[in-house]
Amino acid sequence: MSAQIQTTSFAAVPQLDLVAQYAAIGEEVRAAVDKVLASQQFILGREGAALETEIAQLCGVAHGVGVASGTDALILGLRACGVEAGDEVIIPPFTFVATGSAVNAIGAKPRFADIRRDTYNLDPSDLARRVTPKTKAIIAVHLYGLSADMDPILKFARSHNLRVIEDNAQAVGASYKGRPTGSMGDLACLSFYPTKNLGAYGDAGMIVTNSAEMADRLRTLRNHGQTGKYVSSEPGWNSRLDEIQAAILRVKLRHLLEWQRARQKHAATYSKLLLGIPGIATPLVPENYHHVFHQYTIRLEQRDALQQALHTRNIGNSVYYPVPLHLQPLYTALGHKPGDFPNAEHAANDVISLPMYPELRSEQIARVAEVIAEFVKK
Ligand SMILES: Cc1ncc(COP(=O)(O)O)c(C=O)c1O
Repeated sequence: MSAQIQTTSFAAVPQLDLVAQYAAIGEEVRAAVDKVLASQQFILGREGAALETEIAQLCGVAHGVGVASGTDALILGLRACGVEAGDEVIIPPFTFVATGSAVNAIGAKPRFADIRRDTYNLDPSDLARRVTPKTKAIIAVHLYGLSADMDPILKFARSHNLRVIEDNAQAVGASYKGRPTGSMGDLACLSFYPTKNLGAYGDAGMIVTNSAEMADRLRTLRNHGQTGKYVSSEPGWNSRLDEIQAAILRVKLRHLLEWQRARQKHAATYSKLLLGIPGIATPLVPENYHHVFHQYTIRLEQRDALQQALHTRNIGNSVYYPVPLHLQPLYTALGHKPGDFPNAEHAANDVISLPMYPELRSEQIARVAEVIAEFVKK
């Protein structure tokens, strides 16, 4: 998702500055990696097990199962939920493509339900018209760091006997009416892609769940379906979160809360400075939601022109996501056309994410807001 993101300080205001983060925690990280190197235990060792416990705690559930990426977490999570080839899974069309391609990876079919225009998350009132006898599960994505409206989604799922998977790739640490994201569905999938709020130094992911049965199955699935040494009970996969990544993530986890507070403070500063600029909609944080601002995303009609103006002034920015899933070439065979999911299409045309990372300085935020104000005045 993030190949074009500027992750260094070269830009006047980069979109993300992982170099600044490493400058602050490098020593701790190197010590943790050294420990793993000294142990020469690289797969399924102590660090991974400790991280699983710590992330499960953060998400308010009993079990964590480390895997090789957020995409693998979705694929294996769907399997643990009993989704099979030929089944349908309801997903929002406004998300990173992995939410959909994970469904395809097991031979199932995505069925899209539109998002809400104001939160960019699944619209619970659109679920009823999308469900069919083949529907087995719903994937609720917590986009940009804000929880989806889980109560009506869970209620709908219960009444239709569907499983709920939370795609919590972007919202680790967020909460909804006092419940952590990751604790509400049958299971939840996390990504530790380097640019995430809790990012590894490579690919990594995790599934969290309260179900001991699902956790056991997932431990088997991520390790070639092995239930004993060299005994496999079903077709599995090689998808394990390695010890070096786990050790790095454990260091970063110690800082997550402080980083989260910094992100929230920056978001409040942006929203204060952008308030009242005509045509700009700042992120909505519904009451009782705790947004962790993986992205600070605004929307405006002249989005492409603003993007150009920001680029010209060397201010990092990105559009997540310019093409909704139902209009992706990948899904041509599903036969959708423009207008089928109007809120997702509006979002794809209007949104732009501004620089956001804990080390962002207030003068940098002021500069971004100033450029936006100037742009709107013209
Ligand atoms: C919403 C969402 N789902 C799934 C993924 C897939 O995670 P990964 O890149 O770790 O495979 C990502 C991140 O890239 C994401 O943002």
